[in-house]
Amino acid sequence: MRVLGIESSCDETGLAVYDSEEGLLGEVLHSQIPVHQDYGGVVPELASRDHIRFITPLLQKLLKETHLSLKEIDLIAYTAGPGLSGALLVGAAFAESLAFSLNLPVFPIHHLEGHLLSSLLKENAPAFPFLALLVSGGHTQLLKVEGVGNYHLLGETLDDAAGEAFDKTASLLGLPYPGGAKLAQLAQKGIRGKIKLPSPMLHSKDLDFSFSGLKTAVRQKIEKNLNLTPQFCADIARAFEDSVVEVLTEKTLHALKTHGLNEVVVAGGVSANQHLRKVFNEKAKRFHFKTHYPSLNLCTDNGAMIAFAAFLRIKAGFSPKTAGGFAVFPRIPLKTGDFPR
Ligand code: KG4
Ligand code: ZN
Repeated sequence: MRVLGIESSCDETGLAVYDSEEGLLGEVLHSQIPVHQDYGGVVPELASRDHIRFITPLLQKLLKETHLSLKEIDLIAYTAGPGLSGALLVGAAFAESLAFSLNLPVFPIHHLEGHLLSSLLKENAPAFPFLALLVSGGHTQLLKVEGVGNYHLLGETLDDAAGEAFDKTASLLGLPYPGGAKLAQLAQKGIRGKIKLPSPMLHSKDLDFSFSGLKTAVRQKIEKNLNLTPQFCADIARAFEDSVVEVLTEKTLHALKTHGLNEVVVAGGVSANQHLRKVFNEKAKRFHFKTHYPSLNLCTDNGAMIAFAAFLRIKAGFSPKTAGGFAVFPRIPLKTGDFPR
């Protein structure tokens, strides 16, 4: 079975083909960063228009690169939520009409399910049940994954998502949007412990997070120090990254212990963070648990994770739908991964 996956929930248009026998056959991605950079964040209307502009040429590029024709596709999967409604509608309308014209079934996929199953694309995949830490621009959640389509939310952020906190802090330091990866780079030059920032909710007994206070603490440090030398900025970045990583890894450890699990999948854009991976790997050795991360190119949004999630859902016995009427779901929690039909 060959699945075409389409992702358009935010500021990346991603398409990919996954083959049940041969694995990932190809993937293409168009990032909208230059479109939104001047505004310091994603502008929904511009995102929708850009998805419209690039989705057809991207499909043509994917077919050319994989030497496939549309006749060789068996199923079309697309992100149906959560995300920006206009952006989701572009991918959904494109996928549904393409499938309708080709008489193919479609599979609407939950964006977070795509992220958290993307680690299973690699060798030595985790075995169910496992813990998932989803850290992206829009979400920070700890979930117990019992199996495909069986997710239990254990804790989540009460305010900003981890990626959002990275981006807002980067912006305070004058780095262009999205600043997460750039802030991480800057942190490498910072001196550990030079600046102290809080580690929010580190000792709260629950599995929830809060990152907006950390951003405010950074703002206050910056306001007090009018001489923003490159070293001061690097030290702030170091302190910020250390705090976020400490809270994320400690809460994950707590969740593993509380729920009797010994494998964790870290997924979403922030899982690309090398310091986060390093601290996780150190703790994994010390406390005897296993860590899994998606390949670096699959940490941020992409079409491969959507195609792969649809393949796993079919394998687990879930049914695709007939192409035609459809809806998108900008805000929908992940429980079974099903959408109202
Ligand atoms: O999963 P994703 O592509 O989009 C959402 O679903 O939100 O995640 C994007 C987020 C952004 O906030 C970006 O700054 C952050 O992931 N990010 C990073 C790194 N690479 C991407 N944050 C910290 N360190 C990184 N290396
Ligand atoms: Zn995402």
